Parts: sequence; C-alpha cells; structure tokens
Amino acid sequence: MCGIIGYWNTKKESFKILFESLKKLEYRGYDSFGFATLFNNQLFLTKQTGKVSEAKCEASPGTLGIAHTRWATHGKVNEKNTHPHTDCAGKIAVVHNGIIENFQELKLQLEKNHLFLSETDTEVIPHLIENYLKKGMNLKQAIIKTGTLLKGRNAFVVLNSDTKEIIAFRNGSPLIVGIKKDNGCSEVFIASDIQAFLDKTKNVMYLDDNEIVIVKEIPEFYDVKTGVQIQKRIIKIELDVESAEKGDYSHYMLKEIMEQKKTLTRVINQDSKELMHVAQKINNAKGIFFIGCGTAARVCHTAEYIFSIVANKHVNFVPASEFENYKHFLVPETLVIAISQSGETADVLDALKIAKKRGSKIISIVNTPNSSVTTIADFNFLINAGPEKAVASTKATTAQIVIVMLLAYACAGKLIEGNRILVDVAGKVNDMLNPRYNQHIKNLAKKIYQNQNIFIIGRGINYPMALESAIKIIEVSYIHAQGFAGGELKHGPIAMIEKNTPVIALVANDELKNEIISNAIEVKSRGAYVIGIAPENNEVFDYWIKTPDVSEVVSSIVNLIPIQLLSYYLGTFRGHNVDYPRSLAKSVTVK
Ligand code: M6R
Repeated sequence: MCGIIGYWNTKKESFKILFESLKKLEYRGYDSFGFATLFNNQLFLTKQTGKVSEAKCEASPGTLGIAHTRWATHGKVNEKNTHPHTDCAGKIAVVHNGIIENFQELKLQLEKNHLFLSETDTEVIPHLIENYLKKGMNLKQAIIKTGTLLKGRNAFVVLNSDTKEIIAFRNGSPLIVGIKKDNGCSEVFIASDIQAFLDKTKNVMYLDDNEIVIVKEIPEFYDVKTGVQIQKRIIKIELDVESAEKGDYSHYMLKEIMEQKKTLTRVINQDSKELMHVAQKINNAKGIFFIGCGTAARVCHTAEYIFSIVANKHVNFVPASEFENYKHFLVPETLVIAISQSGETADVLDALKIAKKRGSKIISIVNTPNSSVTTIADFNFLINAGPEKAVASTKATTAQIVIVMLLAYACAGKLIEGNRILVDVAGKVNDMLNPRYNQHIKNLAKKIYQNQNIFIIGRGINYPMALESAIKIIEVSYIHAQGFAGGELKHGPIAMIEKNTPVIALVANDELKNEIISNAIEVKSRGAYVIGIAPENNEVFDYWIKTPDVSEVVSSIVNLIPIQLLSYYLGTFRGHNVDYPRSLAKSVTVK
C-alpha cells in the first residue's frame, strides 16, 4: 500500500517524469498524492487529495525529486497528511510506505524539540534524520540510524536539499532501482514497483531488506547492519510495457478478465520435473498448510478440495493472518505453501517468518517475480499472469488454481492427465470469453445491480468459490454479498431471502448437483431470484449462465469466469471505478 518513487538525473526536469511514473503506482493507493523536487537548494512541495491520474498539477522545478501516492493508515485523507513530509527546517523530504509500529513513542520524544504538522507515523522519519544530522552524522549515517529505529515493515526515500542527495531505505516493503543511460544522459529511479519506470528502462537492481541505496549515476548499496558496501548486479527484466497498460479496454479489470484466454495456457506450461520434485515434498511432508489472504485465501481453501478429490490427500488451509495460531503444529518436515499475487502481502510475510523460525519449508505460488515472498520461499512457482493492476484479482486467481491442480495431479502421479484436463479447460475458457457471453452477463447485471444483497451458494469445491464470488462482487460493486455452503443456508442465512433477492447457485456436473439444485429450490420458494451458473439449464433458474461441462475440480475455474464478469458489470452499472475500489489497495503491505 502506498507507492513511492525517487528520481535522479542531471539534465531533465523531474516533475513530469515523476508525475507519469506515479500514475503507474496508483493501484497501490489513491487517497492523495504528493511530490518534492529540488531546485537551487530549495525543496518544492506539491500535495493534493484524490487520484493522481485525475489531477492537474503545476510542475515544480528541479532534476531531482521524490513522489508518493497514499493509502491512508495514520491520519485522515487531507493535504496535511499527504506525503512528502519534512523536518522542521524544510530541508529533508520523505516519502514512506509501511507502518512505523513504534511511532507514538518516537513522536513523544521528538515533540519536545520538533514541530509536527501531520497525524502520520511517517513524519517521525524526517525529524529523526534532522536530529542525527545535528549530532554530526552525515545523511547516509542518519538514515541508517533512523531506519533501524523503526519497528514494522517500512521503506522510505529521502531527498535532502543541503547535500542534494536521494537515499532510500528498505526493511519489509519493496524498493527497486531502475537505471537508464541514453545519449550521455543518466537517469536513476527508485520505486515500490518496476511498473513505475518500465516504459523508461528494464535494467533493474533489487534493494533487499536492511539495505540502503544512494541514488546517483552509479547507485551505491550498503548493508545497514554492517555499513559495508554491497555490489549488485544489473538485471534485465522481461516484462513488456503493453502488458501493464489498459490498451483499448475501459478498465484494467475487464482487460485482465479477458486475458485469461492466454494466461491459463501460459501457467500450465510449468517444468514437470519441478512439479514432481515439489509433489514429492508434499507427499513426504508432516502437515501441509496453504496460506494466503483475501482471494488468494479462497484459492488456498479450494486447495483443500482439490487435493482431497485429485490426490486423496489432506491439506490445511489457514488465512495468513490467523497462521500464528497454528505455529505449534509446525516442525521442520512441515510444508507451508503461500499463495499471493503480489508477493508483498504483510500477513503472508509474517506467517512465513513464523514458518521459517520453526524450520518448516516454504513453497510459493506468486505472480510477481523477485517479490518479498519469493525471496523467503525455498521454492517458487511463478504463475506468469503478467501485471495485475485492477484491485480485484481475476487472472491471477485462476492461474493460482491451475498451479494447485498441477501439484495435486503430480502428487497423485497423474501429472500428464492433469495437464490434459487443464489444457482442455484453457480452451473452454477461451471460448467462454466472447462478446455474446459478456453481453448475456451484462444483461443480468442490468437486472440486479440495484439490489442491496446478493447471495451465492455452492457445495464442495464450489463452496470456497461462492466465498470468492462474494469478495469479487463486494469489492467492486459495494453490494452486500455473501457466499455460503448450500447446506448451511437453512441454518440461518435463509432468513435474509425475500422477494427478488438474487441468489447465485454455482453448479458443477458432479454428485452434489442435485443437492445444490434443492438448495436453489428452497430459496426460490421464499421468493429468491435464482441465477444458475451451471452446465445445464434447470427449471428453478430464473436466469441461466451456461458453463462448459467439466469435472468437479475444474468447475472452480469455469464458474469463476461469469462471476468476474458479473462483478465487473455490477460495479460499472453502479457508477464505480472498478479498478480502484474505495478504501482498497492492490498490495496490502500493512497489517
Ligand atoms: O497480493 P495478494 O494475492 O497476496 O493479495 C491478497 C489479497 O489482498 C487480495 O486477494 C484481495 O483480496 C483482492 N483485492 C481480491 O480481489
């Protein structure tokens, strides 16, 4: 959450470049944004509430600058709390991503001699640096001293007007350096995500935890614990700019849903030796835990069903934020499988720390290469879905399910069969995503978008998918939605059903089909408007969305596609910017 950037060069004006780069980080937070540039030894600050992509700003001068797009944690959304924050003398500007868990005690001390202007935790950083500079430290030393005092996951970039330096510190939140050399002009970026400068350079250097970098023509990296300089390699990354752009689509969310035509085929293409190697580890493990948050947690929940059906194997699902309660069961032979699109989710990282401490082995299923999760894990499966920018996860979700399925089939010694089934489903999803299908779902959205409540029911593997459906609908349409196991309805939730309440039944052509249809009949007799997402029509359905006739496990993928589209259209009919739902951010890097 929060996107931060620093930009160094000697010739070009930085503001415009920072402004464009910041727009690319907007998915990380979009409550407010700000810039600090340096000209003639003076800092120029620009701050506004709202989205940078919708803003018009007067450029400030200077070739060095830092910028921030905010997802508010400490303090209301207003200009006062917008980054960059400065020291008392207005010489040190700071942009920050993370939460300083001990900021109250630090602030209490600092307030004796420093004037605080905001309610943020961030503001302690410039004041601490100011203190250490006064004590005779140089900027690098002052930043190391300050950074190591902060508790929690943090990354910050500092611009100092006296020394004309940009220095960044990382401990727990991502920062990547980008380097460009062109016609004698050197440019250096430091940002929370490659996306910020992908259109400028693909040459990057990764900053690791407990490191700082002095951002200059040849960036200098230092270990904050030893103070020793570290040599880093320049890595050329493969991502192309188009994959991170909206193209002709009105929203990233729709683009990313449609991209499943390709992403499913791509993700199946995993190294079978690696799958078999990890499958062997799963088969020999003493306890297997799938952990993740939000939608990724729903995929983990689905894994329980997939492994049970395909490999006759029990695996546990735990939301990453609850994982600490299970630490007593972790031994070195335990396997923890973390699923995360971003690879930066704070709760997942904390859970992995616990697993590491107990000596357990970690496997990751992630979308973002070189993210924090991948550096902790012992083995990584990359889902290769390309950048997912809409806050609502779609193409990453189905790709994650594919990896889980491949692992389950590998554990069962049926990897070739699993591959065949998945290639078949990728083709079927490709057929589903056509304009007529989209229109059919759009028509449904038009009928129900004014409703206050939507319920989704499923049995077996479609139970976690019902839960995931609710997340999708809620986050982009703000309609109250809840998913239930079909059998649970009559134990309480059915009381909510009244005339015309939409109830979506996720149906697979499996043994549970008759039971979920019975549940649909129960709600229909209480007035519900029943929407069937099913391979066959049924008289209980008031509206039918056809899905390909596939096996129970694979129904988790094909049933999600119409739900993603429905959520998208519900959100747009209700007039929301579905890519940037209120109060949310793409990567949840705070606890
Ligand atoms: O990056 P991650 O997969 O770790 O993110 C986990 C959740 O924050 C994420 O899935 C969230 O629930 C999405 N907005 C759901 O669409």
